[in-house]
Amino acid sequence: MKPRIAVLISGRGSNLQSIIDAVAAGTIDATIAVVISNRAGAQGLTRARDAGIDALFINPKDFPDRDAHDRAIVSALKARNVTLVCLAGFMRLIGAPLLDAFPQRILNIHPSLLPSFRGLDAQQQALDHGVRVTGATVHFVTSQLDDGPIILQAAVPVLDDDTAETLSARILIEEHRLYPEAIRRVLDGRWLVDGRRFRRTRA
Ligand code: GAR
Repeated sequence: MKPRIAVLISGRGSNLQSIIDAVAAGTIDATIAVVISNRAGAQGLTRARDAGIDALFINPKDFPDRDAHDRAIVSALKARNVTLVCLAGFMRLIGAPLLDAFPQRILNIHPSLLPSFRGLDAQQQALDHGVRVTGATVHFVTSQLDDGPIILQAAVPVLDDDTAETLSARILIEEHRLYPEAIRRVLDGRWLVDGRRFRRTRA
């Protein structure tokens, strides 16, 4: 059976779209079993349904706390035999129930070269700091925000006249290339996590 992926989103879902397209093109050999959003109006839910993918809105307000919301997500994932969880613009901290259910099986994409500029508005943080190069990172999710072992990164130069919008748009182009490639590596079985390093297994 092909690996079964879930994608968790909160909004636009352009990274979700890049994963949908890579699966359709056969460059990711997997099935997208479900897309889950914590926001009702997320455009990504429409993208998923347009592609014939099961798409769920799991409302945080229906649960007393974050762990209970996490447990509802875990139930939905386990019911669909998901083995890899990809956060794609999912703007919510991941708690112990989800981390414990999918050890080293949750990925995230972040719009900076980690460990620089963790958290919200990473592109604006890069502009405010004055760096000349920023980028995108795909990494494993741990209990620390934007801190797990790094799978892939891409650099993006900061231009003199950049705004958060223009910089975000160029980073996003790199993200759409990077995330499918990172998923391919995680699924292909020839890579492992060695301390903080994600590296090829020795033959
Ligand atoms: C992406 O730029 C992603 O890196 C970022 O949100 C955007 C989602 O866009 N994620 C974070 O900032 C997480 N801290 P999308 O919904 O079009 O994929």
